[in-house]
Amino acid sequence: MALPVVDTEYLKEIDKARRDLRALIASRNCAPIMLRLAWHDAGTYDAKTKTGGPNGSIRNEEEYSHGSNNGLKKAIDFCEEVKSRHPKITYADLYQLAGVVAVEVTGGPTVNFVPGRKDSKISPKEGRLPDAKQGSPHLRDIFYRMGLSDKDIVALSGGHTLGRAHPERSGFDGPWTEEPLKFDNSYFVELLKAESEGLLKLPTDKALLDDPGFCSYVELYAKDEDAFFKDYAESHKKLSELGFAPS
Ligand code: HEM
Repeated sequence: MALPVVDTEYLKEIDKARRDLRALIASRNCAPIMLRLAWHDAGTYDAKTKTGGPNGSIRNEEEYSHGSNNGLKKAIDFCEEVKSRHPKITYADLYQLAGVVAVEVTGGPTVNFVPGRKDSKISPKEGRLPDAKQGSPHLRDIFYRMGLSDKDIVALSGGHTLGRAHPERSGFDGPWTEEPLKFDNSYFVELLKAESEGLLKLPTDKALLDDPGFCSYVELYAKDEDAFFKDYAESHKKLSELGFAPS
């Protein structure tokens, strides 16, 4: 499959939108929720039926009202400010660009962004995103359905280096790390500690420790931030291009 082609006008708009997103994320301090928006638009992908994925469908009320998307309307509205200045850019591209910029401006790796995604009005049924109360078999069911691997599961879980859980959104509470606005490998460092006073560990986070297929990556990423950044950038790119470009 060839990479999608966009014209130079579109590429210029993407550059401008990237700058707008940097400014918006800095002024609203909203990097974590922007990353979560990108992930939840993309994470519905089903490789078998080629449905869901990073196609902007999370902007539909039907989809952002799903329980797992609680709180994301705020990020959708932030993106709308950028969309109104760059109407040519698809929602699908905009949300993924927002995720890439969120990682970059908080000190994370540069994730290569290729534009050209198409928007869809069709929302998948509720239940395609992971349930935080479950364990490794469930994580594999969900991520393998997208066409992603064990390494992708662990690297992408490192996205919890940013942000926090909100009781009114998910029922969970608190950040995963001491500095939730800094993208680093501290999620893995904290995960390996028996006790992390005041920090959150979801059942799905703990599952990464108990599973031999996952645990070696947790240990690697905790001791080698460069390895984490390299793998994270690759996995994030894959997630952002599900159903769109060759992986
Ligand atoms: C937040 C679950 C994977 C990025 C959350 C929250 C839950 C959750 C329950 C709290 C929501 C709230 O109360 O506001 C999960 C589960 C995953 C997963 C079960 C399965 C592995 C990911 C991935 C990424 C990600 C792959 C990105 C690469 C985030 C971010 C937040 C978050 C940045 C913080 C949002 C904020 O501060 O508002 N996640 N997540 N998560 N998740 Fe995940």
